[in-house]
Amino acid sequence: MKPSTSLATALVALMASQAAADGVLNLYSSRHYDTDERLYSDFEAATGITINRIEASADELIARMQAEGANSPADILLTVDSTRLERAKAAGLLQSVDSAILEERIPANLQDADNQWFGFSQRARVLFYDKATVTEPPMTYADLADPKYKGMVCIRSATNVYSQSILSAIIEHAGEEAAKEWAAGVVANFARAPQGGDTDQLRGIVSGECDIAMSNTYYFGRALRTPVEGVSDKIDMFGWVFPDQDGNGTHVNISGAGVAANAPNRDNAIKFLEYLASDQAQDYFSAGNDEYPVVAGAPVAAHVAGLGEFKADTVSLSAAAGHLEAAQRIFNEVGWE
Ligand SMILES: [Fe+2]
Repeated sequence: MKPSTSLATALVALMASQAAADGVLNLYSSRHYDTDERLYSDFEAATGITINRIEASADELIARMQAEGANSPADILLTVDSTRLERAKAAGLLQSVDSAILEERIPANLQDADNQWFGFSQRARVLFYDKATVTEPPMTYADLADPKYKGMVCIRSATNVYSQSILSAIIEHAGEEAAKEWAAGVVANFARAPQGGDTDQLRGIVSGECDIAMSNTYYFGRALRTPVEGVSDKIDMFGWVFPDQDGNGTHVNISGAGVAANAPNRDNAIKFLEYLASDQAQDYFSAGNDEYPVVAGAPVAAHVAGLGEFKADTVSLSAAAGHLEAAQRIFNEVGWE
């Protein structure tokens, strides 16, 4: 029996009020990975909350939130790298949130000390090398500055957040003088002027332009899982090292998010962060984008786990990000472009 029009109208009104009740989430995201589609659709299905997305680069989103000011409709800023989240915090674009779920599931070193941003996936910054030309690969980040690797190293530019984060972490561990000495030693070992992304560093090994390259794990993981031009068909030539296993551990960084300072849908924003810490979401970060989860015990995709067990550096990314300016100054002083 076809429901009467009044019943149908009532249903639509109910759904509308339900949607209105469950509301929306205005998400500003600079993560641009296909897998995130499932993250968003599953969240919407699980909560009835509709996600409105604004996608752009982190710099564009931060500038936009600053321009929008107190009227910004942003609820969440989702981006990659603690230094970017720290910049958003320093610009007053985020707010502290108290969540027992986030407190319990996100390791303290992978979140802001004032609860203004939280890491939801992590990636290790490791050293890849050509097994045919490198018989004694660098086992520590310090080794990368050893003159025996002169002219052998491909690495990203100083303007890249991954470079800024690792130098900031080295400053946090060893101080500015030691960090500067290290950076100068690495510059002396450059095979070429820094250029391209992490995948281009791996391609530098394939082309023979360099023998050693620094890259985040997920770019190599991606080349294991999907055809990446100029890398996947030569995958067997690569060796890799998780540096500093007898020291601080391997530098990790995050993709993460925070609640916007003027979030109009604050409760929904917190629900979204808690969802990103759920086992389901943690699984997507690893299986779908070759990253590591941040929640202890969450599943790691087989091809990512296959890179090997490693000790991660547990330095506070929040504390390390405080050295960003010093890192940029050091890069300039040693000529790391
Ligand atoms: Fe990346």
